[in-house]
Amino acid sequence: MSATRSAADHLPARLSLKSLREAAADCRGCDLYLHATQTVFGQGPRRAQVVMVGEMPGDQEDLQGRPFVGPAGRLLDDAIAAAGLARQDVYVTNAVKHFRWTPRGKRRLHKTPSARHVEACKPWLQAEMLVVEPRIVVCLGATAAQTLIGKQFRITQQRGEFLVTAWAQWTLATHHPSAVLRAPQHEDRARMRRELIDDLRLVAQKLPDFAAKKNSKEPAAPARPQRTAAPARPSR
Ligand code: URA
Ligand code: SF4
Repeated sequence: MSATRSAADHLPARLSLKSLREAAADCRGCDLYLHATQTVFGQGPRRAQVVMVGEMPGDQEDLQGRPFVGPAGRLLDDAIAAAGLARQDVYVTNAVKHFRWTPRGKRRLHKTPSARHVEACKPWLQAEMLVVEPRIVVCLGATAAQTLIGKQFRITQQRGEFLVTAWAQWTLATHHPSAVLRAPQHEDRARMRRELIDDLRLVAQKLPDFAAKKNSKEPAAPARPQRTAAPARPSR
């Protein structure tokens, strides 16, 4: 046991998605398990080329035990499909694995996890990355971006850029689907939704399968300009 309580105290000796999911079900790495229904672990194929990371499960996710199955999940599913990706090919997870909430009448309102919760839960996310070894990591919103890219990261300034991190060949951050839903103005919601889809399309275009499919249908499509030129790490 380390001096600070965290998920690290609960990691299994052998890392597989199954062993991680089972161990995370009993995690007491921070206090969030006390008021949540269950651990909401990541979900998706072990060999996924793309991992998408949200912030924390919401009310529906907490009840169903699966990530992104509520309103934000429906928006994400639509955006994934519109970008030419398939949800079942993507490993979807969250920075924090238990729902943090505050009562508002009969409802449970989302309460942003603190830096302490994110830090305590990070070993699960790190272990998921080690097992899945994605080609591309997509951070949905500031919590995931600040956890995986850096504390200074600002979605408003750096979304849609491919960055080099220790987690994958490419890491990109975009709007959190809940932020799209919460935007008060209709125009902002529409713009953010478009930007989310555009960013996911950039992700799709980086996948070799996508390029192959596209090339088989169309003769010499003009290359899209790169939004940023980050140096590529040697591929594994
Ligand atoms: N918001 C998140 O960040 N994750 C979920 O799983 C659902 C909503
Ligand atoms: Fe463990 Fe993360 Fe849940 Fe805290 S939020 S108890 S660290 S799984």
